[in-house]
Amino acid sequence: MQTSLRGRDFISDLDFTKEEVETVLEVAWDLKKKRAMGLPHAYLRDKVLAMLFFFSSTRTRGSFEAGMAQLGGHAAFIESKTTQISHGDTETELGEIYGRYFDGIAIRHCDWGIGNRYLNLVAQASRAPILNMQCDVYHPHQCLADLMTIQEKKGKDLRGKKIVVSWAYAASYLKPISVPQSLILQMPRFGMDVTLAYPPEFPLMPEIVEQAKAQAEAAGTKFEIIDKADGMKESFEDADVVYAKSWGPLLTTTDPEEGKRLQDKYKDWIVNQDKMNVAKKDAIYMHPLPADRDIEVASDVLDGPQSVVFDQAENRLHAQKAVMALTMN
Ligand code: CP
Repeated sequence: MQTSLRGRDFISDLDFTKEEVETVLEVAWDLKKKRAMGLPHAYLRDKVLAMLFFFSSTRTRGSFEAGMAQLGGHAAFIESKTTQISHGDTETELGEIYGRYFDGIAIRHCDWGIGNRYLNLVAQASRAPILNMQCDVYHPHQCLADLMTIQEKKGKDLRGKKIVVSWAYAASYLKPISVPQSLILQMPRFGMDVTLAYPPEFPLMPEIVEQAKAQAEAAGTKFEIIDKADGMKESFEDADVVYAKSWGPLLTTTDPEEGKRLQDKYKDWIVNQDKMNVAKKDAIYMHPLPADRDIEVASDVLDGPQSVVFDQAENRLHAQKAVMALTMN
């Protein structure tokens, strides 16, 4: 068991080795049991986490804030628009200054071409660890909770299990691509065969796909891409895990009108029971939420027996508490 995580940043999914992720999950399950039994686990007494948000959140804010309190510390909610960032505080000021006030700095910055660079620049200046609450490239804490949930439902040995990571249609907004990118990077290391499905205009970042393929090759797992206009149902065949969500097109992330026009071509990319029926009988349905109900996924699937979305959301709390306890102690 690798336990040397104190002071470490967690920005990309691959910042922690497979063994280190296993350690995080062991701690997460221990913390989950302790919370269930009402046992105290104040491992971060007197520690304070800064939570800097450039983008809205329901789950991420709630789970980091509740998690810090349950660990005996405090989380400070800081919206970027209430700071002096727009008046000249750079990444260096943030890292240098907040790194001295706080024991960890968690940041959500999803702006395309900006977010990940921002986190890394703050990390360069900070003496406290930087935790990625979602950037334009990765959503690593979501992915830890996803892995934890899959292992709870399918067993710890995931070799030979198929996860389909599929694009889905949404009408609300052009959603970030960070979740599917984190999934294809992390899941091969844990033995899962990955099928990535999207309409032709919705590929992920080529360098991330190359990294994911290398992870799959090293792990001896399958990695398949289906990029056909009508490929969603086909991609679900024999899946153990169906993880389908919307994301915006790469080339037009800075052109929302064009992005919406492209997206609207694929309104039939909805997860419904007919498509779920081609997956394995005991397949689980996953989504990080928020989902566009009856647009991205049919209500009878989202609320149905195969859906694990609320367990998945709960596990954000336990997985993040584990990361904080290990990095901020
Ligand atoms: N899944 C997720 O990150 O949810 P929020 O955007 O509500 O934080």
